[in-house]
Amino acid sequence: MVKRANSQQTNVNNKQKRGVETLCHSATADPLFKKRYMEKKFKRTLVTSALPYANGPVHIGHLAGVYVPADIYVRFLRLKGEDVLFIGGSDEHGVPITIKAKKEGVTPQDIVDRYHKIIKDSFKEFGISFDIYSRTTSKTHSEVASQFFKTLYDKGEFIEKTSEQYYDEEAGQFLADRYITGTCPHCKNEHAYGDQCEACGTSLSPLDLINPKSAISGSKPVLRETKHWYLPLNKHEEWLSKWILEEHKEWKPNVYGQCKSWLDMGLQPRAVSRDLDWGIPVPVEGAEGKVLYVWFDAPIGYISNTKELLPNDWEKWWKDEDTRLLHFIGKDNIVFHCIVFPAMLKAEGSFILPENVPANEFLNLEGDKISTSRNWAVWLHEYLRDLPEKQDVLRYVLTANAPETKDNDFTWKDFQARNNNELVAIFGNFINRSLVLTQKYYEGITPSRGELTDYDKKTLEEFVDIRKELEKYLEVFRFRDALKEAMNLARIGNKYLADTEPWKLIKTDPERVKTIMNLSLQIAANLAIAFEPFLPFSAEKLRGFLNINEFNWENLGKIDLIEDGHKINEATLLFEKIEDEVVEAQIQKLMDTKKQNEISNWKPAEMKAETTYEDFTKMDIRVGTVLECQKVPKADKLLQFKIDDGMGGRTIVSGIAKYYNPEDLIGKQVCFIANFPTRKLKGVESQGMILSAVNADGSLCAVSPSKQTINGATVE
Ligand code: 2FM
Ligand code: ZN
Repeated sequence: MVKRANSQQTNVNNKQKRGVETLCHSATADPLFKKRYMEKKFKRTLVTSALPYANGPVHIGHLAGVYVPADIYVRFLRLKGEDVLFIGGSDEHGVPITIKAKKEGVTPQDIVDRYHKIIKDSFKEFGISFDIYSRTTSKTHSEVASQFFKTLYDKGEFIEKTSEQYYDEEAGQFLADRYITGTCPHCKNEHAYGDQCEACGTSLSPLDLINPKSAISGSKPVLRETKHWYLPLNKHEEWLSKWILEEHKEWKPNVYGQCKSWLDMGLQPRAVSRDLDWGIPVPVEGAEGKVLYVWFDAPIGYISNTKELLPNDWEKWWKDEDTRLLHFIGKDNIVFHCIVFPAMLKAEGSFILPENVPANEFLNLEGDKISTSRNWAVWLHEYLRDLPEKQDVLRYVLTANAPETKDNDFTWKDFQARNNNELVAIFGNFINRSLVLTQKYYEGITPSRGELTDYDKKTLEEFVDIRKELEKYLEVFRFRDALKEAMNLARIGNKYLADTEPWKLIKTDPERVKTIMNLSLQIAANLAIAFEPFLPFSAEKLRGFLNINEFNWENLGKIDLIEDGHKINEATLLFEKIEDEVVEAQIQKLMDTKKQNEISNWKPAEMKAETTYEDFTKMDIRVGTVLECQKVPKADKLLQFKIDDGMGGRTIVSGIAKYYNPEDLIGKQVCFIANFPTRKLKGVESQGMILSAVNADGSLCAVSPSKQTINGATVE
């Protein structure tokens, strides 16, 4: 363990250590794990990351869940000099893209062209270092996916089945489950989908819905017979169970657990074709108007993108047992990558299977689920515009707070705190002091070390094992913990300077300062290596400051990385403080979105049963002017009014304190029920009730007459 700079952190670290033991218990104890991971030396690693749908931009949830972890891992392997490929691309088929195109009156190709570019650019800007980022509308992909289907078809790996499915006669197309709505047979919610009722959570089939309606045209769909090809997953159940449940106990508990529950439920045949005019045509006779199901072609995209990158050399990456295949994905993709795609690969016969599928859980935003349709997200292209040059800050925060074992929450306040208190105050501060002092005392020329003191030796001891510590976590995809170790190195450096105080010693013991500054520069060089997988932009900047080009993972933990006499460059700040206004603007943006959503989701309250004029006349509603208004002590919701009611005045207490400054109401006219029974609220006697309108967000707005009216006037 890299020793901690203070005792509080040591405690934290001990807890984490226990965490390692718990999480990896099955892995380290299991002889199969040992064999696979400790003894088997793979020659190369193929890393894939889920292909995002090109029907919208990418957001922080995508980055935290999939792309940053995959990129950290790939950069780590590259630094170690391993043979690695990192494959990415856009998933450009599927029904949602066709629906979006229809809504906008453009073609599906227009939609995917637009978003493929936005997504690709965002990933590039964030330093996601793909070897290729291609797309599933490429020619190579269409050929590879068709051939894959054809091979399975020719081998008799599919079953053909004809079934009745809903067809929209007006739109002239079969309807995907999600595009049929109707009444849930269980809870009678009228807006249930063909695959699920979101009100009661029940999984449905479109045929279960009462009064089904097409979400495309609104018409009543009819049942029509249609033939499809199915992958009989049930046939694969036995080997899948053995392969995952017995041979891959080291998979993350969330991944293993989800696979186990699918396997325990028993696998069913899955259709791999759809009636749709957007996708890769099913390449067999009698399949006119049918395309490959998007989840059949998308994972094949990993193969076709590898082939596009290496047309003559791709096979060793997919077919050689010495290749280690890893899929980085989010938790909603687990079944496809751990069960369906492996079954496809096995059925084809010549491909290797994934060695691990390090799936993450979800990232929430300010306490709410990230949602594209509700625009509840931090979009990467907008982040880049609003916080330019701050890619590494987001990479840092998303890794420090990664949803590795459970869903986590992103908040702008935490973002600001981590930047200001960790990146700026610890890492940046140490680097800045080391470089500025070296410039000041030695004009940037690295001084030689003299004899080390016991304190120097103790400091060095604290990070001598940093490489092993980082590897221990990185190898098992525990990036949060690895990042903590890297940050702890910066803490060690910071503490070393704070404790040795070279700025004081320079007058009394200049020889000693040479040693201190030399060691500080060595720690800075170590930081440039340790942070490269996590914060590539800052690591590069730091290498520039230190004027070092040659660096590799093996050097981590050493203290001869910068030679005596080596000239370092003038430095600028590595990280900058983020001011309150910046995060407040982002929070405001989200609040505006929330408000907008409330307005667009607002539905009028249900009409009450018919009343009578006589009932209405029982209410004595009147106009009055607010003479005084103040908060009721110890009651956040209540305001106490003194009203001129034209009849000598009265006191009314009303629950609208959250929505008004009391002084803003003074002099305003309001309507109130004058014959409401008197009641005591928090010790104050209220003689009536002020009428309020209820807004879309539930806020209350006191009702006034539209013109100045005499106090005491009745409302009729
Ligand atoms: O969930 C998604 O965004 C899918 N487009 C992921 C596909 S991953 C792979 F199979 F391509
Ligand atoms: Zn329901």
